[in-house]
Amino acid sequence: MVFNRVELREKILQLKRQRKAVILTHNYQLGEVQDIADFVGDSLELSQNAAKTDAEVIVFCGVHFMAETASILCPDKIVLLPDINAGCPLSDMVTAQSLRERKRELSEAGVVCYINSSAEVKAESDVCCTSANGVKVVESLDNNQILFVPDQYLGLYISTKTNKKIHLWPGLCPVHVRIQPQDITRLKQDYPQAKVVIHPECKPEVIALADEVLSTSGMCRFAQRTEAKEIIVGTEIGILHRLKKENQGKRFIPASEQAICPTMKLITLESILWALEEMTYKVKVPEEIRLKAKAAVDRMLEVV
Ligand code: 13P
Ligand code: SF4
Repeated sequence: MVFNRVELREKILQLKRQRKAVILTHNYQLGEVQDIADFVGDSLELSQNAAKTDAEVIVFCGVHFMAETASILCPDKIVLLPDINAGCPLSDMVTAQSLRERKRELSEAGVVCYINSSAEVKAESDVCCTSANGVKVVESLDNNQILFVPDQYLGLYISTKTNKKIHLWPGLCPVHVRIQPQDITRLKQDYPQAKVVIHPECKPEVIALADEVLSTSGMCRFAQRTEAKEIIVGTEIGILHRLKKENQGKRFIPASEQAICPTMKLITLESILWALEEMTYKVKVPEEIRLKAKAAVDRMLEVV
């Protein structure tokens, strides 16, 4: 049976109530997926929401590591990822085995993993962080040396804000590295009054041109409080939907139209309906890994 968009929305909302489900959605999701969510946010807010929800089922509209984080925090709930192929290539750039090997070489270092990492990697880390709290998390450790995985650019950005020695890992986000410094300089010529907000997964030459370096929800908060009427947005373009919706009188200019995360876009209204009908795809972290990974996530949630 084929439904139109309105019918599809209604079917989802009806089934969501029946299943006692909550829909948590990342800022990069398709506009119509954001519009059906109970909550839209960045990685930090999504984990905080997962930790406190009393729903029985969490439908996670984001990528695999985000659903895993919800499963780490809520082992008694059913966590559904509507498309099992929605992974994060950055998170795949470090494995638990490769991390264990590097830890042996850097036995003095505290290990901080970006939340964009697998549960196994979190289980090997002292604490995890998001783009919203990396500096605070690094500062919270007693170690003077930090091994930071897997995003080299977030790690490098943090290293400019702390006196600690940060050992970087050669991971990167293939979406954010598409944003080039010349994209920003060209747009600044076209929009001389515009403020520039940049995600810390971008390259340092791009970050150097930013007025503010922020997580995705940090960008949404900035957009509301700034007097600026034009904002150049250096992150995945899915966020523009929320920015425009919440700030009708302001203009948002994507730093690069190329900054599209294909796996984020795998989640659709159709796949959400399917997920609720079939209760697929369940994301569940094995208990032994979960307990160790939870220690790293809990430690982050204590810091923020
Ligand atoms: P935020 O936590 O800032 O939303 O970032 C998540 C992400 O995957 C960035 O690419
Ligand atoms: Fe992963 Fe980059 Fe996509 Fe974020 S934008 S989910 S870091 S690939």
